[in-house]
Amino acid sequence: MAGSILAEIEARGHEQVVFFNYPEVGLRAIISIHNTVLGPALGGCRMRLYPTEAAAIEDVMRLSEGMTYKSALAGLPLGGGKACIIADPKMTTGREALFKKFGECLNNVMGRYITAEDMGTSVADMMYVKQTSTHVVGTDPKLGGAGDPSPWTAKGVFFAMQAASERVFGSGRSLRGKRVSVQGIGNVGMHLVEHLAHEGAIVTVCDTQQSAVDEAVKKFGVTASTIENIYEAPCDIFAPCAIGQTINKITLPRLKAKIIAGAANNQLSDPSIYSLIAEQGVLYCPDFAINSGGVICVCAEATGRGTDTAWIQSKVDAIYDTTGRVLDESKRRGKFTEAVAVELAKEIIQAAKSRKDS
Ligand SMILES: NC(=O)c1ccc[n+]([C@@H]2O[C@H](COP(=O)([O-])OP(=O)(O)OC[C@H]3O[C@@H](n4cnc5c(N)ncnc54)[C@H](O)[C@@H]3O)[C@@H](O)[C@H]2O)c1
Repeated sequence: MAGSILAEIEARGHEQVVFFNYPEVGLRAIISIHNTVLGPALGGCRMRLYPTEAAAIEDVMRLSEGMTYKSALAGLPLGGGKACIIADPKMTTGREALFKKFGECLNNVMGRYITAEDMGTSVADMMYVKQTSTHVVGTDPKLGGAGDPSPWTAKGVFFAMQAASERVFGSGRSLRGKRVSVQGIGNVGMHLVEHLAHEGAIVTVCDTQQSAVDEAVKKFGVTASTIENIYEAPCDIFAPCAIGQTINKITLPRLKAKIIAGAANNQLSDPSIYSLIAEQGVLYCPDFAINSGGVICVCAEATGRGTDTAWIQSKVDAIYDTTGRVLDESKRRGKFTEAVAVELAKEIIQAAKSRKDS
């Protein structure tokens, strides 16, 4: 087993994958550090009951690699990392002891990995981590933390939509009159709907939570769709903002949109969908290139800028140009947008490495 994990690490180019086992507090955790050329590896800590240990390793390694590219493209002094705790995210008893121990695990990798809230973990959990480690961000804003990153993520996605729309429809940066379907109106989706409504876009929404749909209809006058019909709603831009892999061989042919741009991580089912998206004449904005508003926000905290909103705003503004660069380079290189975004990120890292080595 150890041999195959090492082979996997080597093949994917990860720097370090560390396993922790503290049964006395129920902690089984993995920290995956993909790349630290640009800075310490930052990424959230997931808490999940994975079906198998291999699934946990796969998840944390894949996500840490994605964080490397996301931060590089966003121009942040950060590398890519991720952690997972293999436990029931609903556990209540012993949570404090578990997360304090996790903080000690972070100290063990000596700041090469910085953690944050993610699926199954909360700001309260991060406050426990903070009691034993300084290598944590996204903590309570009252105590100098960055606070909720979702508004920044929504803003970045909105700017990316503008960059894509300019290229596809040739009608300038404004999204006025464009039909946008937003799948999932949680923390990010609702803020995105607000931007779109203010811009004069024609918005359709869906969510598994009827209360969220009702709120959006009431506040922003949007149209409600069912979970299933959202794929067929007449629209120019489709924005996945719920869960991963909603763009797959079954849903793609049903989409009317010319652009896919949303906040959800890992929107595409697998790379075999690349050619299908291109054949359908859809412009896909790579998720990790456009949903970096959140990591930009926590980067401010990690680099001692606290809640320097001017700095955060300037980095989020740049998502418009970054998206444009990815889309233009995709055309120039004749390659799918997601592949080009990875190439551009690797070029940024390689340039930094060359500067360091010289
Ligand atoms: N919050 C951030 O700053 C941030 C940053 C980067 C990426 N993301 C990603 O963006 C996505 C949204 O993040 P969030 O913070 O808004 O999460 P959230 O949990 O607040 O919102 C997700 C919403 O999607 C809904 N939903 C779930 N399944 C659905 C389905 N099948 N169809 C329609 N709606 C469904 C949920 O009810 C919820 O309202 C996630 O994939 C997240 O990983 C978020």
